[in-house]
Amino acid sequence: MRRYIFVPHLLPAISGFEAERLLSLLLSGSKGVHSVSLNVGRLNAEVRVEGDHVVLPGGHVLDEERLRKMIRHKDSVFIIEGRETYRVEVRNGRRYYKLWAPITGRAPTLEISGVHMHRIVEVDPWTDSLMKVNLARVRAGARVLDVCTGLGYTAIASRLRGARYVLTIEKDENVLKIAKANPWSRRLADPQVDIILGDAVEVLPGLPSGSFHVIVHDPPRLSLAGELYSLEFYRELYRVLRRRGILFHYTGNPGGKYRRLNIAKGVAQRLRAVGFKVAYAREALGVIGFK
Ligand SMILES: C[S@@+](CC[C@H](N)C(=O)[O-])C[C@H]1O[C@@H](n2cnc3c(N)ncnc32)[C@H](O)[C@@H]1O
Repeated sequence: MRRYIFVPHLLPAISGFEAERLLSLLLSGSKGVHSVSLNVGRLNAEVRVEGDHVVLPGGHVLDEERLRKMIRHKDSVFIIEGRETYRVEVRNGRRYYKLWAPITGRAPTLEISGVHMHRIVEVDPWTDSLMKVNLARVRAGARVLDVCTGLGYTAIASRLRGARYVLTIEKDENVLKIAKANPWSRRLADPQVDIILGDAVEVLPGLPSGSFHVIVHDPPRLSLAGELYSLEFYRELYRVLRRRGILFHYTGNPGGKYRRLNIAKGVAQRLRAVGFKVAYAREALGVIGFK
């Protein structure tokens, strides 16, 4: 395990949907300056249509052929660097990671080998993360432990709610590589956010008791990360939380309503067993623990 220095890419990022809009401007022949959404909805910018290409802020030039290539993968995200276009994805052995932007203008999610890491039905990934930190009642001055960094949305949302400090833990460096290319993750580069690259199961025993006001626990589904739902892990969560501290534990909805109830119920039982008082947060598919 080690501290991870997060340096975001600051190059333009364009979703396939945004590329489609640029192409329609280009094909309409309306030369001149146009206001468009770039950076997967994070930036309203002015682009210039000139002859057979579009000029982005920073002078990056996109012609019809490049835009058409991007549109083939409408819900993907591309980084534009001079003449090069990179799709935001990582292949590592049998695992495939990609930044996936299925909802136009909304924060993308991370997809790992076909499993997306945020809710995208009924709620977008960013709103989902805001709900989690609201339910965890992150307040001004709080020290927050964010278990499972992912794209950093819950860590960033905690800071936006006024947390003084966030310690966030991510096991998989490929995930952080994807986050670096995501315009919605840029605020992870924050001196008040420490990122530990390591397994939360190994990191927690090294943290002092009672050192956090709030814990946001946002693990992958139970079938993919059972250790993060175990009694032993919950004991550690309880130990590092201060008295009167609050835990929000996302439990998710794998396999529909019936299974969700059982998973949340099992989580609640084990949280109670280690000392938490528990309430269900059904709207956010989670369980809240009070110490
Ligand atoms: C649902 S995502 C977290 C989403 C994140 N909170 C956000 O706001 O974007 C779950 C993440 O947990 C990571 N993970 C899985 N097992 C882990 C472990 N044992 N320790 C730390 N991170 C882990 C995965 O790599 C994945 O990035």
